[in-house]
Amino acid sequence: MRASITLFVSCAASVATSSPFPSPQLLSKISVGCHHWGKDCPVPGFAGTDSSPSLVGEDSGRIAIGSYDGSIHILSSQNGSELALLEGGGEDSPSYDPVTTSITVWGGLKGSTIINYDSATLKENWRTNAPIDNVATAGSGFGYIYAGTAEGTSSVFYSLDIETGATKWKYSAASEMWGTLGPLITPAMVCVGVGGDANFLLNKHSKLVCLDHNGTTLHETETGGRQIQSRPSIGRNVIYVGDYDSCLYAVDRGMGGVVAKHCLGSLGGYNSVVEGSTVVRTDDDGLEHVIFDSWNGNVYSLSLDGATFKVDWKTNLGDSKLGGGGAASTPFVSNEALFVGGPTGVWSLVVATGEVLWFYETGEQCGSSPTVWESKVGIGCEDGYFYLFSTEAAKQD
Ligand SMILES: *[C@@H]1O[C@H](CO)[C@@H](O)[C@H](O)[C@H]1NC(C)=O
Ligand SMILES: *[C@@H]1O[C@H](CO)[C@@H](O)[C@H](O)[C@H]1NC(C)=O
Repeated sequence: MRASITLFVSCAASVATSSPFPSPQLLSKISVGCHHWGKDCPVPGFAGTDSSPSLVGEDSGRIAIGSYDGSIHILSSQNGSELALLEGGGEDSPSYDPVTTSITVWGGLKGSTIINYDSATLKENWRTNAPIDNVATAGSGFGYIYAGTAEGTSSVFYSLDIETGATKWKYSAASEMWGTLGPLITPAMVCVGVGGDANFLLNKHSKLVCLDHNGTTLHETETGGRQIQSRPSIGRNVIYVGDYDSCLYAVDRGMGGVVAKHCLGSLGGYNSVVEGSTVVRTDDDGLEHVIFDSWNGNVYSLSLDGATFKVDWKTNLGDSKLGGGGAASTPFVSNEALFVGGPTGVWSLVVATGEVLWFYETGEQCGSSPTVWESKVGIGCEDGYFYLFSTEAAKQD
C-alpha cells in the first residue's frame, strides 16, 4: 500500500517499549533503500518501503521488493543479502508470474513504463514503448499482464502481451481507475476497481469490473463505495473487496451484484478504510473466512452466513507513533498462523482465533505484506529495512 496516511509524520523519538508478546528470531535485517523522510528519499514524505516481497525464480531462490528509493531490490531468499538491483521499478510491488517466470514492475517513481524481466537472468524482456501515463494498477499472473491508468474519464485498462508488451486490448473505464495493489487475476478473469471521482470523500460510485481474458465484460457491480485501492480476492461463490468507505463487499462471483457488506464505520475521520487486500481461507470444516487489515488498527476475520457477514474475531495491532492505527498490510496465511504488518512492527496471529503468537517491534509502520517460505517470513517496513524472521516465536530463555 501507499504510505499516504503517514505523510503527516513528526519526528517522534522512538521509545523503547517492552512488548508482552514473544518475539520471533530475527534472521536478517537488510537496508532496502532510503531511510529518511524528505532526505535521501526521492519523494518527500515516503520512506523505506510499502512494497510486498515476491518470491521469484523457478527455485524461489530470490525475493524481489520495491522501495521508495525507486529501485527493485533482488535479495537472497536464504539470508536476505542483496544480489541485484533492477532500476525500472519503484515503491510498488513487483509481480512474479510463474507461468512465464518473469517479473513485471511498473514505473512508480521513475515514470510509468511497465517493464518485464526474465527472472533467471534479470535481463529486460521488454518495456512498453508508448508510455502508459499515470499507472494506477498493474499485475501479472497465469500468463497475463494488466495495467490500468488514473487519467480521470480517459482512464484505460490495458491487457498487454506477455511476450512483447504490446497492447492486446483495452477497456475504457470512462472514470477514475484505482487499485494500487493490483487487479485480481484468476485463470478465468481479471477484476479491478474503477469508478467515480478521484476524491474518495466525494465519490459514491466505486465499481468492481470483471472481464474475461479476451476483454469481454463479465459483470460490473456498482457497490456504492468510495474507492477500491485493495486487490479483490476470490472465494467459492463471491469476490471479496475492501473499499475506502470502510466496508468489505462480497460480490457474486458469476453474475456480479453485492451479496453482502460489512462496514467498520467512522468514515468521518476516514480511519477505517479497508485498503490492504483481503485473504480468503478455508478452514478444516470447509468454512470460508475472509481476513483483512484496516486503517482502524484491527485485523478482522469474517465469514459469510447467507447475506450477512459474521465477525469471527478481530485483533488490535496498536497505534502508530502518531496515534491512530492501521498499516493496511495484506495478511499472509500459512498453515495455522497469519502474518501481518502493523503500525509499529510485525505480527503473527493464530489464524483461527486472532490470538497473538509473536510481535517484533520496528517502531515504524510495516505496510508491506509479508511473504512466507521455508519457515521464514519476509517483510519490508517504512524504516527502510527488509526483515527476515523465523515463522515460529523464538524459544524463551
Ligand atoms: C546468502 O545466500 C546466498 C544464496 O542465496 C549465498 O550465495 C550467500 O553466500 C549467502 N550470504 C551469506 C552472508 O550467508
Ligand atoms: C478468447 O479468445 C481465444 C482466441 O480467439 C479463444 O480461443 C478463447 O476461447 C476465448 N476465451 C474466452 C473466455 O472467450
